[in-house]
Amino acid sequence: MTGDLAHRLVVPALYNLAASDLLPDKFCLVGVARKGMTSDKLRDSLMKGLREFATRAVDDAIAQRLAGMRHLRRGRPEGAWHRSTPMSKQLDELEATRDTGGNRLFYLATPPNAFLPISRELGRTGMLAENGAWRRLVVEKPFGTDLASAKALNSELLKLVEEHQIYRIDHYLGKETVQNILVLRFANGMFEPIWNRNHIDHIQITVDEKLGVGHRGSFYDATGALRDMVPNHLFQLLSLVTMEPPMKFDAHSVRSEKAEVLAAIQTQSEQEALQNSVRGQYRGGKIGDAEIDDYRKTADVAPGSTTETYAALKLTIDNWRWAGVPFYLRTGKALGVKRTEIAIKFKQAPFAMFRDTPVDRLSQNYLIISTEPTEGIALQFNTKVPGPNINIDGVEMKFRYKDYFKAEPSTGYETLIYDCMIGDNILFQRADSVEAGWQAVQPFLDAWKKAGGKGLKVYEAGQRRTGGSQRFA
Ligand code: BG6
Repeated sequence: MTGDLAHRLVVPALYNLAASDLLPDKFCLVGVARKGMTSDKLRDSLMKGLREFATRAVDDAIAQRLAGMRHLRRGRPEGAWHRSTPMSKQLDELEATRDTGGNRLFYLATPPNAFLPISRELGRTGMLAENGAWRRLVVEKPFGTDLASAKALNSELLKLVEEHQIYRIDHYLGKETVQNILVLRFANGMFEPIWNRNHIDHIQITVDEKLGVGHRGSFYDATGALRDMVPNHLFQLLSLVTMEPPMKFDAHSVRSEKAEVLAAIQTQSEQEALQNSVRGQYRGGKIGDAEIDDYRKTADVAPGSTTETYAALKLTIDNWRWAGVPFYLRTGKALGVKRTEIAIKFKQAPFAMFRDTPVDRLSQNYLIISTEPTEGIALQFNTKVPGPNINIDGVEMKFRYKDYFKAEPSTGYETLIYDCMIGDNILFQRADSVEAGWQAVQPFLDAWKKAGGKGLKVYEAGQRRTGGSQRFA
């Protein structure tokens, strides 16, 4: 509870829920900190974080509800952290005095190596057993570091709880534009008939960030761009864009279709993986006015590190809808612009009709679903330039969320935490999709590990990408 995630996102999201009257009346926030901290100190630190990271003005009366939280004694995930005053006993007492009814959501906002030890302690002390009240476990990313570790983590957790009790969080699913992909595809009749290999030439999924690695050197150097972003965030986007229509809009149907399409990603050999990928690492540079250090000079990064800060992969999906359509996924840090988008490129119209006119080329038809820098959807198509001759130019039709809807700014965690409380896991990853995701990236991890520095490109921080879809401005 002392970390970045709790301060920046979890507590501000709980505040927003409280401000929107979406927290239950009988509610108590209990913090467990690894670092030795008194209750008052932890409360002050979280309230300071709330004021700094809140997405709206903080009303003291509402903040007070969260500040009324309890802090349990210093915990060590390795075990024995509850023995002198058993945590289960403290929680039982709290539940009795605050009349909260017994439902408990354990949010593991911890380093990944603590997920299992903490869950085991919770299991061992009976705190995960659902006896008339629900018990849920929220597990943050990264869920494993490769296929084997993700499988092991799933299998160990499933010895302690049932699948429906596990909420594997991916904050991309808290984004409105990401949730909207299903609505765009399945609440409109015109897209589905052309959403396949007969009409789609290829799909690009891009998550470019301006930020460098900053103070996360130690985590990032052991992780890299691929692990940090692809099997989780980029695959969420990929699965929503490529899944079959679910039977119903419920957790079982939606998650089954997502898992199915991820399992259909062709598993490449290591040699294919090398041919179908690019990885890079940034050197010092400037982004706007900010100087970005050379990645290898970042604190806690090995001076000769070969960890990628940029990854691009070409994948294919072996099913009837997508056979032969390439998917280009790319993500990187310290790039010139922040851009998160899915660009769907439709097949070119035949040029034949324009052969004897001044038209020398047709613009490309893209449908762009954008989250950054603008939340919206754009369609690029050709149109006649006014005038006596046939001249054609590419134009863009744009929908921007902010032009139509007024939503309170949020952290993106509100919906996710709320769904955990109401027991809807539609926006959370199921064990099978997590494993299917790792399965698809494993050959890239293995091939890159063996290749070391060979084939690792360098780029200057702040570099802009050329090519691809036009930007959604
Ligand atoms: C996190 C990664 O999961 O997602 C970070 O660990 C990354 O490295 C972040 O910066 C990106 O999230 P967003 O919402 O800014 O695209």
